Amino acid sequence: MFKNKKIAVLTSGGDSPGMNAAIRAVVRTAAFYNLESIGVYRGFQGLVEGDFKELTARSVKNLIHRGGTFLKSARSDEFRTYEGRKKARQQLQKNEISGLIVIGGDGSLIGASRFSEEFDFPVIGIPSTIDNDIHGTDFAIGYDTALNTVVEAIDKIRDTASSHNRLFLVEVMGRDAGSIALNAGIGAGAGIILIPEMKRSRELLLESLSRSKKSGRTSNIVVVAEGDDAGKNILELAQFIELNLKEYEVRVSVLGHIQRGGSPSCYDRVLASRLGVAAVDSLIGEYSNIMVGIVKGNVTLIPLSEVTKEKTDVDRELIRVSDIISR
Ligand code: F6P
Repeated sequence: MFKNKKIAVLTSGGDSPGMNAAIRAVVRTAAFYNLESIGVYRGFQGLVEGDFKELTARSVKNLIHRGGTFLKSARSDEFRTYEGRKKARQQLQKNEISGLIVIGGDGSLIGASRFSEEFDFPVIGIPSTIDNDIHGTDFAIGYDTALNTVVEAIDKIRDTASSHNRLFLVEVMGRDAGSIALNAGIGAGAGIILIPEMKRSRELLLESLSRSKKSGRTSNIVVVAEGDDAGKNILELAQFIELNLKEYEVRVSVLGHIQRGGSPSCYDRVLASRLGVAAVDSLIGEYSNIMVGIVKGNVTLIPLSEVTKEKTDVDRELIRVSDIISR
């Protein structure tokens, strides 16, 4: 039985709004069951080095509304090696910790799964990334907040775009996935959305822009996911458009890391709270090497090994919606 035991919690990879709310939920649920919580600072690197601190229900007060992660996050090269993971195992043993909760994106969850398998150690993953590209959950913590941040920013860009009759290329985050670009693009009324899953050619982009100018549109916004080929060199794309479509005056806006910060939305706070409770429940239920996620509104458990199997596919219906209403 998972009784009178200690659990550790860490945040890993790119931070996302709502990570603090998830840590809070984990620590408070552990306290509810009389389990001790240990916060691991700086993600897997802190696990390797034993950068641990005891957390109580009170030490996680005033956190639910804060962006970032108070436990800090890091991308650890050492943990990618077997030797590094062995050191992490020894640190957990030395501190008599019986279960680990990892809050992070796909890379972090892959690392967590490997660690759990190699050392037969109970690990539960909580999906948290603004990219929302984790297979096995409809939503990752931080995605909703990032969408709202992007829509708010594009609304502002739209004001100046329309005052000057300009075309704006707005680059949004999403290294391998177009979820932010597609959803925020629709929400912000973008004229064209470029995502890595679609691989739209530059020629097609010129065609669409030309058609839209002819239809009487005076300003336009193209949302480009950073992972799209066009997004990899957005300044060059701007020059290419100006060279080929003289009627356009183009400006570029790269939203960057503002998308990762800020106070989490209510949706992300509730999601983080639900998944935090579910993660501790899962450890108590003696589950291991699984991720808690949300599918069709319900909390679900899926093996961490499956999280790594395939990438989430892009939503074709959303692409259709965008194609129809952006004309
Ligand atoms: O994975 C989340 C993410 O924000 C990606 O969208 C982005 O490409 C990447 O992290 C940026 O990482 P870093 O902050 O390490 O530059």
